[in-house]
Amino acid sequence: MYITKFSRLGAHMIKGLTRDCASSARFSGCQFSVDILFGYVVDKHRFFSSTAAGNAHEGGDEDKEKISVTFVDKDGEEKQIKVPIGMSMLEAAHENDIELEGACEGSLACSTCHVIVMDMEYYNKLEDPTDEENDMLDLAFGLTETSRLGCQVIAKPELDGLRLALPAATRNFAVDGYKPKPH
Ligand code: FES
Repeated sequence: MYITKFSRLGAHMIKGLTRDCASSARFSGCQFSVDILFGYVVDKHRFFSSTAAGNAHEGGDEDKEKISVTFVDKDGEEKQIKVPIGMSMLEAAHENDIELEGACEGSLACSTCHVIVMDMEYYNKLEDPTDEENDMLDLAFGLTETSRLGCQVIAKPELDGLRLALPAATRNFAVDGYKPKPH
């Protein structure tokens, strides 16, 4: 609304100045004034527009693109982080120094990224686990009915407020000292 009013005012002033200039002998001086005024109007216009656009960007987009996730470790310590949409909980944990192992780096070949979704309501919002994920979950230590693999839980807007518990232990054969025997 301000922009429209301002533009109208600017146009009105330019019209007046131009008319005065046409009847003036000092044309070059008038031309200069019109240029300055016009530049000012344009700049002001740009200022208002970019401020409005900037606010829209600053205010909403950043928050819209990230969700809030809380990790609760085995001692009950909570850490709340912001996770960009599309990022897995394993990646998010690693970026935020949260101790979630992820030995196979998300290739569904381990269960060390086991997390427990603390609210059933959120568990039900997740995509169903694939057979491969279920196979790996079967090997997870302390499996619960809301267990998932962190590398398979991907941030999406509906998961804003998700709480994930880290199990007391993981079953990582390599780390636990298990050595596969040759057949
Ligand atoms: Fe290995 Fe998730 S990191 S299955």
